Amino acid sequence: MAIDYNVGLLLGVAAALGAGLTFGMTGAFGQSALTSGDELRPLYATSSDVAEGKQLADLSCSNCHGAGGVSTTERVPNLAGQRPSYLYLKLKADQRSGSDEPHSVKLMKFLSDDALADVAAYYATLDPASPPDAPAPTWADPIAAGKIAAEPCAKCHGENGVSHKAGVPSLIGLHPKYLVETMQAYKSGDRPIGPENEDMKKALEALGDQDLQHVALYYALQSENLTPAQTPNDGGAPPTKEALAICAKCHGDGGISTTPITPSLAGQDAAYALNALRAYKDGTREDDAMSPKTKKLDDVEMKNFAAYFAGLDPKPVNILKPLSPDEWAEKCDRCHGVNGNSARPEVPALAAQRPDYLESALRKYRSGARKSSEMAAMSSILTEEDIAGIAAHYAHQKPRAAVFVPVPSK
Ligand code: HEC
Ligand code: HEC
Ligand code: HEC
Ligand code: HEC
Repeated sequence: MAIDYNVGLLLGVAAALGAGLTFGMTGAFGQSALTSGDELRPLYATSSDVAEGKQLADLSCSNCHGAGGVSTTERVPNLAGQRPSYLYLKLKADQRSGSDEPHSVKLMKFLSDDALADVAAYYATLDPASPPDAPAPTWADPIAAGKIAAEPCAKCHGENGVSHKAGVPSLIGLHPKYLVETMQAYKSGDRPIGPENEDMKKALEALGDQDLQHVALYYALQSENLTPAQTPNDGGAPPTKEALAICAKCHGDGGISTTPITPSLAGQDAAYALNALRAYKDGTREDDAMSPKTKKLDDVEMKNFAAYFAGLDPKPVNILKPLSPDEWAEKCDRCHGVNGNSARPEVPALAAQRPDYLESALRKYRSGARKSSEMAAMSSILTEEDIAGIAAHYAHQKPRAAVFVPVPSK
């Protein structure tokens, strides 16, 4: 939607342009230079429309959205100072959806189009909520946290997860999802830990779910230290092309897996890989994909596979480095405006919104429960930690009201 920001504009959303921000019912500016689409209706409100919007809000909305549009209820958004077209479009969409979430069909049914435009205009004229006084919590870099949590692992798995001990796997080069699932499998007992690895058992038991995520990210993102395991490899006869093609179906070309839960094999310690194959064959380690592949292999063949993959070069895992809330916000502000103060009437402001509501909205976009083409791609890659950090970031931004100038009554 293109809007001409001319003199005589009825509503300019001059958010975040620094000092001199005005908001008010400052009379009229003559006729609009806007060519209005239906979605711009609330921008054309008169002061009596706004007064009617207030009546409706006090009667039907304030019990949930708070007096003056500042919510005191968990996961219910503040509406004060929210951008008018966004509010209007959202309410229209709700009305069309025919669902009782979040607004009962009964409530929405009796609201005319004019009433929706009025109530949207009314909320847009209000001063936004104030951000909390306490500063936003400082962000803890998950990789740095993972490095600390992985300290007890280094004596066996090597600094940076490059193994120097035959029989101990390298962890570098493995996808974080595989690492997390594997650590959980050891913790739950699904994957056995021999008595010689009592220390690993203890070290893993000390880690909570979030620690496991951090540790996995730490190992996965050590790509500048990526080398094959620094362990002996006696070599062996190279497996045939046909035999390797079977493994490549899952473990990828050159032993570099492209599916997160299938481990890469390139550069893995040969003794460990051989143990793993033997364990699948004798049933001590079970996996629906692997176990059947090992039944027909003899020990020499397994040794050859292990030696072959150990001799290949590992590659960095293809995942993104976690971003801090500030780094995320740079991406979000492209649409949501400087510090979440949207300058587009159809895009919601995020500044000083309730953090619990922001978190809940982001989770709904991520799961698809709330649909938006703009937000779907953005939210799909957010972790729970990202969501908490971003929500706190925006909740703490200084909000800027929309400049709202009602047209004179006819
Ligand atoms: C019974 C409680 C309740 C009442 C009454 C209510 N709302 Fe809501 N409203 C909610 C909740 C809860 C949400 C958040 C829904 C979600 O998380 O998707 C919401 C969301 C909204 C949104 C979307 C907000 C945003 O920032 O995306 C708008 C707009 C809105 N309400 C306007 C109104 C208006 C206008 C009225 C009165 C006509 C009203 N609501 C009455 C509970 C209520
Ligand atoms: C006492 C030495 C020791 C310590 C300490 C240790 N490990 Fe291990 N780890 C091993 C050995 C040996 C194996 C192979 C066990 C097997 O065959 O299942 C292993 C296997 C693993 C695997 C499976 C890798 C794969 O490719 O499937 C993961 C993941 C792992 N360890 C993570 C950790 C983490 C994280 C820590 C620290 C919290 C840790 N280990 C501490 C010795 C250790
Ligand atoms: C159908 C898919 C599939 C095929 C084909 C396959 N693998 Fe696997 N492989 C897996 C999966 C999935 C795992 C991880 C299973 C688990 O969590 O225990 C795995 C694990 C392994 C491991 C243990 C790695 C580690 O880090 O613990 C080795 C070694 C291995 N495979 C070798 C081979 C070889 C050699 C072949 C070819 C003969 C082969 N695989 C064929 C899916 C497959
Ligand atoms: C391409 C433009 C665009 C980008 C980039 C974008 N958003 Fe949005 N966002 C929108 C639009 C449009 C909506 C309204 C969608 C709707 O109607 O549900 C929205 C809605 C939201 C909402 C719901 C607000 C409310 O009041 O209900 C939140 C929260 C949000 N975005 C957060 C973010 C975050 C965090 C990022 C960055 C990770 C981001 N957005 C990036 C366009 C964008």
